[in-house]
Amino acid sequence: PVEVFDLVIFGATGDLARRKILPGLYRRYLAGQIPPDSRIIGAARSAMTEAEFRQMVREAIDEFVSLDKRDARIISEFIDHLSYVAVDAKGEEGWAALKALVRPDRVQAFYFSVAPALFGDLAERLHAWGIAHPQSRIVVEKPFGRDLQTARALNATLAEHFCEQQIYRIDHYLGKETVQNLMAVRFANILFEPLWNAQYIDHVQITVAETVGVEGRGAYYDKSGAMRDMVQNHLMQLICLIAMEPPYHFDPNAVRDEKLKVIRALQPVAPEDIVRGQYLGLKGAPGYIEDSENPESKTESYIALKVQVANWRWQGTPFYLRTGKKLRARESEIAITFKEPPHSIFDDAPGWRENVLVIRLQPNEGMNLKVMIKEPGPGGMRLVQVPLDMSFADALGEEGADIPDAYERLIMDVIRGNQTLFMRGDEVEAAWAWTDPIIQGWEARGDRPRGYDPGTSGPEDALMLMHRDGRRWREIR
Ligand code: BG6
Repeated sequence: PVEVFDLVIFGATGDLARRKILPGLYRRYLAGQIPPDSRIIGAARSAMTEAEFRQMVREAIDEFVSLDKRDARIISEFIDHLSYVAVDAKGEEGWAALKALVRPDRVQAFYFSVAPALFGDLAERLHAWGIAHPQSRIVVEKPFGRDLQTARALNATLAEHFCEQQIYRIDHYLGKETVQNLMAVRFANILFEPLWNAQYIDHVQITVAETVGVEGRGAYYDKSGAMRDMVQNHLMQLICLIAMEPPYHFDPNAVRDEKLKVIRALQPVAPEDIVRGQYLGLKGAPGYIEDSENPESKTESYIALKVQVANWRWQGTPFYLRTGKKLRARESEIAITFKEPPHSIFDDAPGWRENVLVIRLQPNEGMNLKVMIKEPGPGGMRLVQVPLDMSFADALGEEGADIPDAYERLIMDVIRGNQTLFMRGDEVEAAWAWTDPIIQGWEARGDRPRGYDPGTSGPEDALMLMHRDGRRWREIR
């Protein structure tokens, strides 16, 4: 179990709280990780009674927790830990009641699951009302700004009331088991690291494909697009974990220092190294234009990029990234393709292919290393590629199949006071500093995204991004 805590969730009636935060806390409670004396306090604008809030959480658990994890007795026990206060972020209403609930002598965390425009108001009132203290933690969600300027302003606002050690900026990809596994695979094995550089790695492919569209979130999404929504944060974190130097210790600042160096080493991306797409309507299903309710929209629901990390380790090894909505499958993976052996002794042996290490982030989390062996039989030396395939579920049994949701892990880290898997202010700013000129470039050129049919692997042009380098994307199945 973690230490006894009081967690206040601002925006407790919102979508994220219902889908992720509250069900996640329930699952941690079920796992015995939340001490009985802890309290979870919902805070939002709506005038709701405690009973109504508890009922809402009960329904959220029914909807978002799998059946095998729903235990009526434990749910009731968990619900008993919940309180609710109606609080006005922009006024004084409700704050006295909140102050009366939050106990100063335990771990305190405030989760800002609200629009970033309210971060400043919440931070200020938590102080003005004497609720927060120097050890209190705040948790903030993405989007953390929409460019460098707004991210800086947000950092400055939070810094007026909280120091960096108190601020937990969530990127939920860092809470995914397989994403953390990238660090374990690289730094707890001797096998990979000696080969982990431009001398041996031909290229890296990162794919985050989704089958959902933007239905229901069109208003937010249309102002973001895939670059701001996914690349600036989630894919950026993946690049960092693949490309970074070994930190001297698995410690929050040591890890984040190394990630920051990667972000700073990212080269500007030329227009010909970017392909943006927008999904079309098909067979009566609405396209992006209908989903976003913006007939003029030039926002991308798909993007592919060729990125260079300009440092000694990676000089000449491109990172190809792609992410999009309404693609053929929900599939996220990182594929590291190695170079040819320096000299082949099997001159006329057919069947040779490159070694590839595939790290599957979701679904079916695991790793697959493709190696060459001799094809069995008397027919001379013929080579064949076979997988050394490991899925968490097979390798680790029940534990491997029962992977906690990213939010569960991250919220518990907040309570433990461990910032390793959270973004530091300078990291977020550096990521925007790289992203901004890319977006400004296509805006200035007035580029329109290419249409692509839903259920495919994205716009045709994205194929060219790799073909012209003599490489190809792995198939999205
Ligand atoms: C969110 C984005 O941060 O991540 C969404 O805003 C996206 O657009 C989601 O769908 C993907 O997360 P996951 O965990 O489903 O891969």
